[in-house]
Order: sequence, then C-alpha cells, then structure tokens
Amino acid sequence: MTPELVRSAAENSVPVPGINVSRLDWDLKRITPGEFDKYWHERQVQVIPPSLFEPNREIWLEIGAGSGTFFVEMARQNPDAFLIAIERSRDRGNRLVRKAAKAKLPNLAGFRGNAIPAVITGIPSNSLSRIYIMYPCPWAKTAHRKNRWYLHPLMQHLVRVLKPGGRLLWTSDQKFYIDEARFICESRYGMKVQVHGEISPNSYNDLGNFPGGRTKFERTFLGQGLPCYEVVVEKV
Ligand SMILES: C[S@@+](CC[C@H](N)C(=O)[O-])C[C@H]1O[C@@H](n2cnc3c(N)ncnc32)[C@H](O)[C@@H]1O
Repeated sequence: MTPELVRSAAENSVPVPGINVSRLDWDLKRITPGEFDKYWHERQVQVIPPSLFEPNREIWLEIGAGSGTFFVEMARQNPDAFLIAIERSRDRGNRLVRKAAKAKLPNLAGFRGNAIPAVITGIPSNSLSRIYIMYPCPWAKTAHRKNRWYLHPLMQHLVRVLKPGGRLLWTSDQKFYIDEARFICESRYGMKVQVHGEISPNSYNDLGNFPGGRTKFERTFLGQGLPCYEVVVEKV
C-alpha cells in the first residue's frame, strides 16, 4: 500500500497521478443508467433467487467468479457469511455450479449467468456486505473503456446493493484499472478508500489464507512474478 497516495486522495479527492481525470469526468457524464435499467427490467431475467437475500444475512457476492475456486474456499473459511458467486461464461460457469454443489456448503451458492441483470433487477438495495471483482477484463483499449465495470451503468447498482459500511473489493494486474476504479468510487460515489496499492496480505483481502493466490488469474500472475493491485472501498 502507498499511504501517502491514500491520504492525499482521501483528503482532497485528488486521484493518484497518471490517470486522465478529464476523460473520466467526460465518460461519467455520458452514463445513462435509466435506459439501461429499463432494458433489463423489461426482460425479467432472474439469475439469483430473491429468497437468498434474507435481511439479516451477511452476504458476499463475487462477480466474474471463473470456476469458483476463490469463493468455494472463502465459504469454507467463513461459515457465518453467505457467499454468492456468479460467472457468465458457459464452461467456467458450469464448472462453478458443479464445484459449489460438490462442496456441499450451506453458505455457498454458485450461478452461471450474467451479473448485470442479476444485480440490476434481482438484488435488493442495502443487502450485501461485500462485492468482490477479481481480475475483471480491463478493456484496456481507450475505445472499449465504457465496458470497464466502474464506467458501466451497473456501477451505480453495485453501490446501491451494498449496505452502508459494505465493501467493494477490486483486484487487477492492471494498475490503471485500480487507480481509475478508486478515483470513480471516491469522487463519484463518495466511497471511503480502505486499501489501495500493490497486493500484500492485509485485514481486508484474505490473501494470507491463500499463499499461492486467491483466484486462478491471481495465481498465474503471482506465479510469473507479476505485480497485482487492489483497491478496497467502503460505502459511507
Ligand atoms: C479475467 S476473468 C477472471 C476470473 C476470476 N475472477 C479469476 O480471477 O480467476 C473475468 C471473468 O469475468 C466474467 N464475466 C465478464 N462479464 C461478466 C458478466 N456480465 N457476468 C458474469 N461474469 C462475467 C468472464 O466470463 C470471466 O470469467
């Protein structure tokens, strides 16, 4: 972690150097959630049964969970939380569903499906304690940047479904992605930064319980000696 950067951004709402603030401001002005939400509400796609969202449950969600390695183990290690993992790809999603069923854990549910309608139409406001976004596709080309989760109309729903004090945990091998996610979470959504920088075990990320890495992508990057980055933000 780089405490100076965390402090300066938290105090002044100034992002870490190197990100294009005016382009992000421009992008943020062009997000039109109304139309997007209408599209998905009209389709009535149900991915996660609403009965899972019991009001007094501690619920954690992983978006783009791959074949589910991380959340299966997290569910074993955290029996008091209820964990929901969702993955869109057919192969990885099917593996996730099989792995979750085989684990026979009462606090884990794995779904193959699109997280966008799952969150927009299926998750009540203020219901999640944590959302994990681990190594999302970074959409690194400028022309594709609207697909980055923090520039996507889904983003306002990620904040909506978190409880006050709930955490959004982003991890990526792409530093720019983490820096931009932080800037937007802080400046647009007023979220509080808890951790930001290159990953190392801390009280937010459970890395200490996964010596080789938490997810498949993380294990690959760390195995190749590549740096990985995180930002953990909290809904105020
Ligand atoms: C780069 S992979 C990372 C997988 C895993 N988190 C890891 O770290 O090993 C990103 C994953 O997000 C999934 N994904 C992308 N868009 C999604 C969506 N709308 N809903 C659910 N999963 C999605 C992709 O299918 C892919 O498996």
